[in-house]
Amino acid sequence: MVKNFFNISDFSKDDILKILKFNKNIKSLQNKSIGLLFEKYSTRTRLSFAVGISSLGGNAINIRFEELNISRDESFEDTFRAMECYLDGLVYRTEDHQKLIQASRYFKKPIINALSDQSHPCQSLSDLLTLHEHFNSLEIHILWVGDMNNVCFSFVEATNLFDGLKLTICTPSLISKNKNWKLGPNISVVSEINDIDLQSVKCVMTDVFISMNDKGSDEKVALLRPYVVDSNLMSKTNSNSVFMHCLPAQIGLEVSEEVFKGSKSIVWKQAYNRMVAQKKLLQFIYQ
Ligand code: CP
Ligand code: NVA
Repeated sequence: MVKNFFNISDFSKDDILKILKFNKNIKSLQNKSIGLLFEKYSTRTRLSFAVGISSLGGNAINIRFEELNISRDESFEDTFRAMECYLDGLVYRTEDHQKLIQASRYFKKPIINALSDQSHPCQSLSDLLTLHEHFNSLEIHILWVGDMNNVCFSFVEATNLFDGLKLTICTPSLISKNKNWKLGPNISVVSEINDIDLQSVKCVMTDVFISMNDKGSDEKVALLRPYVVDSNLMSKTNSNSVFMHCLPAQIGLEVSEEVFKGSKSIVWKQAYNRMVAQKKLLQFIYQ
């Protein structure tokens, strides 16, 4: 069966543990060509896949949407059928999660979600790796502060699989009331930071207030402005706590410069691990 990776929930806990244990250096992609199809901006995901695929012996092909005939008049179906003739897999970033599902009807080889409006499973997979590397355990209390967006959704799915993880989401109730996500018993949502046992928090995560797919509004920024991760918040968390952000960051909005550049920040380790985790993911998919 074709292994697509649209969401963390496409895999079991055992699959994820197996992925994280793969040797990232086996040249398992020899003679394989993987297309990188991005409808939206990307720095980390695009480059980490491109370099990761090459270092596994594969061929990463950047596909520019505006150069495809789909930009003129070829149908979505024929575009993906054509790509299936040449490629062994696709890494696809799209503004509409449904397009991943639609693409898989015509492109019957592995498709990896490189971020959609709904989820960012590669980010959460690699964040699990970073957390495990740092704490040597996945029994950690994590605090997510800010918007309940695609990255938060994937981390919720990861937490649903790993019952040792504890996740507290701190977000305005105006945001949480519109989300009917499946939350396991180890996940809680609060709107007041003072309602959280901050001493037990070992990791504070956040992301931009306005995502690429958001319409974005001054009202939303104003609503989220109190949900900044600053030194005051970090100082109340566990003495061994870390700060994580998938990047790109809007320094001064969701995170202060002091925290972003401070000693608790492991954002560059996180960025590096995107490549490591994705190489492991590719080993798993093409094993
Ligand atoms: N974190 C992440 O996916 O970054 P890019 O948008 O730069 O790929
Ligand atoms: N939530 C952000 C993540 C970027 C990697 C976005 O979708 O723009």
